[in-house]
Amino acid sequence: MAGVSTAEFWTDLYARGGDGWELGQPAPTLVEFMESTPLPPGRVAVPGCGRGHDVRYLARRGYRAVGFDFSPAAIAAAQARAKADRVAAEFEQRDIFTLGRDYANAFDGVWEYTCFCAIDPARRAEYVRTMAVIVRPGGWLLACFYPIRRGGGGPPFPMARSEVRRLFAGPFRIERAGVPLHSVQRRQGQEWMVLFRKTC
Ligand SMILES: C[S@@+](CC[C@H](N)C(=O)[O-])C[C@H]1O[C@@H](n2cnc3c(N)ncnc32)[C@H](O)[C@@H]1O
Repeated sequence: MAGVSTAEFWTDLYARGGDGWELGQPAPTLVEFMESTPLPPGRVAVPGCGRGHDVRYLARRGYRAVGFDFSPAAIAAAQARAKADRVAAEFEQRDIFTLGRDYANAFDGVWEYTCFCAIDPARRAEYVRTMAVIVRPGGWLLACFYPIRRGGGGPPFPMARSEVRRLFAGPFRIERAGVPLHSVQRRQGQEWMVLFRKTC
C-alpha cells in the first residue's frame, strides 16, 4: 500500500481527526514495563512517535529521548506539548527509513509502538535493518507489537508473532517476551511486548 509510505497520508489523518490510534497519554504497556524493569539510562529513539507522549515519558524518566515522525503535523504537536510541559524531549521530522544515514550506532535503545503496524508490510524487513543500524552493539529494542491477529487490511497492518521472530532474528535476539497486563481496553489480547538485544 503505497499511500502509507508518504507523510501526506498521515498528515491528512491528523487533519481530519482520523487519528484513532491517539491515546493522549504514554502507552500503558511502556509505563508498565519501565516501572517493573527499568532499562539503563541512555539515548533512545522512538520511530513514528506521533504526538510524542512516549517520548516525553521517556525524557521525564531521564532518557535522552528523540522522536522521529515524517508528518509535520505530528512533529509540530509533539514539540508544542514538550515545550508546554517543559520536558527536554527532542523531535525530528524525518522518514524513519532514512535514519541509517545519520544515526549509525547512535542509540542505546529504541521504543517501538504502533510504527511497525503503520508502515507498508512489504517494508518490514527494511524497518528491522534500519533499527539494527541505529542501535549500538549490545543496545536494546523494546517493542509492543500491535495488532497481533490474523487477517489483512490496515493500517494498522496485522502481524503474527512468528513473522516478528523471523524478521528480527539475526541482528536481534529476544531477551524477554510476553503479553502485557495493561493494554488499553480496545487493544487487549492483541499486544505482545518484546525486549530485543542487538547481537552484533
Ligand atoms: C499509528 S500512528 C502512531 C503514532 C504514535 N506511535 C502513537 O502511538 O500515538 C503512526 C505514526 O507513524 C508515522 N509514520 C508512518 N510511517 C513513517 C515513516 N516512514 N517515517 C516516519 N514516520 C512514519 C505517522 O506519521 C504516524 O504519526
